[in-house]
Amino acid sequence: MASLYAARGCHVLVYPGAFNLTTGPAHWELLMRSRAVDNQVYVAAVAPARDMSAGYHSWGHSMLVDPFGSVLAEAQEEETTLLVDVDLAAVEEQRRGIPYLTQKHPELYALLDLTAEDAEQ
Ligand SMILES: *[C@@H]1O[C@H](CO)[C@@H](O)[C@H](O)[C@H]1NC(C)=O
Repeated sequence: MASLYAARGCHVLVYPGAFNLTTGPAHWELLMRSRAVDNQVYVAAVAPARDMSAGYHSWGHSMLVDPFGSVLAEAQEEETTLLVDVDLAAVEEQRRGIPYLTQKHPELYALLDLTAEDAEQ
């Protein structure tokens, strides 16, 4: 899904999610940074704050990751607002500097976008 969006020109992927207290520390940052680097896009990961009196305990840690995989801002588990400037030109800059998105081998594998107009033919 992330690769399809990137191929369609998306520069910022927004992932709402509520990982728990096991998968959060193990996978949240790992997955967000991976999607950013895989697709050379910004990733905004948006999670609910943690409420230990609720039935589900969210890891929290909303974050913004840049196309190089650097975490530009990260909340903790409390409710907060992150205000971060996003330089969309950094996406093209990153793709020029490390051009692996243009080095794919569609003769070996390709993204199949069933919603694209040419998929209906
Ligand atoms: C978090 O979710 C995983 C996957 O469903 C589960 O294995 C684990 O027990 C959960 N941990 C907590 C603390 O709820």
